[in-house]
Amino acid sequence: MKLFITGGAGFIGSHLVRLLIAEHHDVTVVDNLSTGSLSYLPESGFSFFHMDVRDVKVRKIITEGQYDGIVHLAGQTMVGSSIENPVFDAQENIIGSLNILEAAKQIRARLVFASTAAAYGDVGIEDLPVTEQHGIAPMSFYGLTKTTVEKYLRLYHMLFSLDYVALRFANVYGERQGDRGEGGVISIFAKQIALNRPITIFGDGTQTRDFIYAGDIASGILAALTTKQSNTEYNLSTGTETSLNTLVDLFGTIAGKDVRPVFADKKPGDIYRSALDNRKAAEGLGWKPEVSLTEGLTRTYEYFCRKSQ
Ligand SMILES: NC(=O)c1ccc[n+]([C@@H]2O[C@H](COP(=O)([O-])OP(=O)(O)OC[C@H]3O[C@@H](n4cnc5c(N)ncnc54)[C@H](O)[C@@H]3O)[C@@H](O)[C@H]2O)c1
Repeated sequence: MKLFITGGAGFIGSHLVRLLIAEHHDVTVVDNLSTGSLSYLPESGFSFFHMDVRDVKVRKIITEGQYDGIVHLAGQTMVGSSIENPVFDAQENIIGSLNILEAAKQIRARLVFASTAAAYGDVGIEDLPVTEQHGIAPMSFYGLTKTTVEKYLRLYHMLFSLDYVALRFANVYGERQGDRGEGGVISIFAKQIALNRPITIFGDGTQTRDFIYAGDIASGILAALTTKQSNTEYNLSTGTETSLNTLVDLFGTIAGKDVRPVFADKKPGDIYRSALDNRKAAEGLGWKPEVSLTEGLTRTYEYFCRKSQ
């Protein structure tokens, strides 16, 4: 397939682009390198445009390229920043996305969009793991702008027959993750442990998240590009809750170190438990995560050990 990837030089993008090149797809990446880096990508095997997705020139590149599919990953990814600067968050995540939607509409290419678990907000324990049918109730502007783009996608489908798939990622982790974004706790822990520095847990460590390896997200995106069951939303997740205390124990075993976290006050607004049901993706995308938490954490820890040398 001839594919156009926005944000391809970022953390998840770097896993996706590597997978697509390995599977011999024709790959074009656009990225403004605000958080991504060309060093995350192989030296060759794809075309690259250093450009902002808000720039109208991106539309020309897409329409002239006549791509079979577009994966839209570029955007502002930090919950905290969205609350501090909602205008920038909306410009990146809504206006940037609209620019891509307009181009996708013109060439009638499928658009796969990176949405988020933040769409659901704080879900009652009785509703975990949360399914796609659950109500949308974001608790941050980031969650709001992502779910707004989901609504635009539904309307573009209704008005212009745009073919789309929106993927709500759980907490993604793996090599090349920055230590600021959504699933950042694993990259922060891995980096600190690799450097023999202390780690801090905000709260008592019993809070849970659904941690999914970035390579599994990449294979889910690839499945979304070809599924017959498009024009809907899918959770990409493990469906399993892991507490931060369990993470620390696993890291201790993997690193062969006595890891003792420092406990600090819980951050206001933090969700206590989170897990996303992945049965719809199993059925509609023929996808399931393949990398165990221990294997994924080992790869991530080894990456940060190499980086800190
Ligand atoms: N990491 C997670 O746990 C997670 C969870 C849910 C959803 N997501 C979504 O997945 C996508 C990728 O996230 P990531 O974790 O790889 O983050 P990332 O910051 O590593 O990747 C984003 C990429 O987009 C680029 N970018 C940002 N704004 C741009 C713009 N205006 N124009 C062009 N390029 C731009 C950045 O340089 C970067 O390469 C995002 O849309 C994010 O919201 C991530």
